[in-house]
Amino acid sequence: METIIVKDNIEGGKKAFELIKSGMAEGAKVLGLATGSTPVPMYKAMVESDLDFSDMVALNLDEYFGLAADNPQSYHYFMEEQLFSHKPFKETYIPNGLGEEKSECARYDQVIVDHPIDIQILGIGTNAHIGFNEPGTSFDTTTRKVALTESTIESNKRNFDTVEEVPRYAYSMGIQSILSAKKIILMAFGEEKAEAIKKTLEGPVTEEVPASVLQQHGNVILIVDEAAAKLIQ
Ligand code: F6R
Repeated sequence: METIIVKDNIEGGKKAFELIKSGMAEGAKVLGLATGSTPVPMYKAMVESDLDFSDMVALNLDEYFGLAADNPQSYHYFMEEQLFSHKPFKETYIPNGLGEEKSECARYDQVIVDHPIDIQILGIGTNAHIGFNEPGTSFDTTTRKVALTESTIESNKRNFDTVEEVPRYAYSMGIQSILSAKKIILMAFGEEKAEAIKKTLEGPVTEEVPASVLQQHGNVILIVDEAAAKLIQ
């Protein structure tokens, strides 16, 4: 795994943007995207650039179960606000939080098959989850409905008025789907991610540390700030 250490999330976002830009120059057509605070500076760099995404397909990792696309807490809404309303894409896909479980998961898996991901952007949970694939998730999973762990509900409550409002379930791309991407850019900023980054890079590959599976993918770039890198040997 190539590791790039940056000063802060702003520099990290710009670096990720540059990698997307060079990937597109080399023919990348499908971007796998993430939500949360980590990719926000990258989206800002994309929006402020003069790069044209109108020939690109975007495919998001996950969505809260039970939230409609127009719910301001949904990941649909987040993506519109951060990126899609500023930079039109040819097609965008996000799991439908109101979709019926079986058909929605099958639909999304087909989307991934039809649009093989060239560059997948990932953040990481403090428990090393990727997407909403929590510790214990089998590495051969595809899209499914997942129960969020208490630690993820705690981390995500900052975006809701009360912890009770945080959805308990989400639709998430699986680990196998993430690994199908040709290139993966994992970003982590802040001291609270340091332990997860250490285990991801240096620990055994285990389903208890979902991101550790990235050690088995041949084309991963890790962008971390100094705080998140502080436990790396
Ligand atoms: C979001 C996602 C999650 C986040 C992770 C980190 O689409 O899939 O895995 O990347 O929870 O969240 P932040 O960036 O808010 O620390």
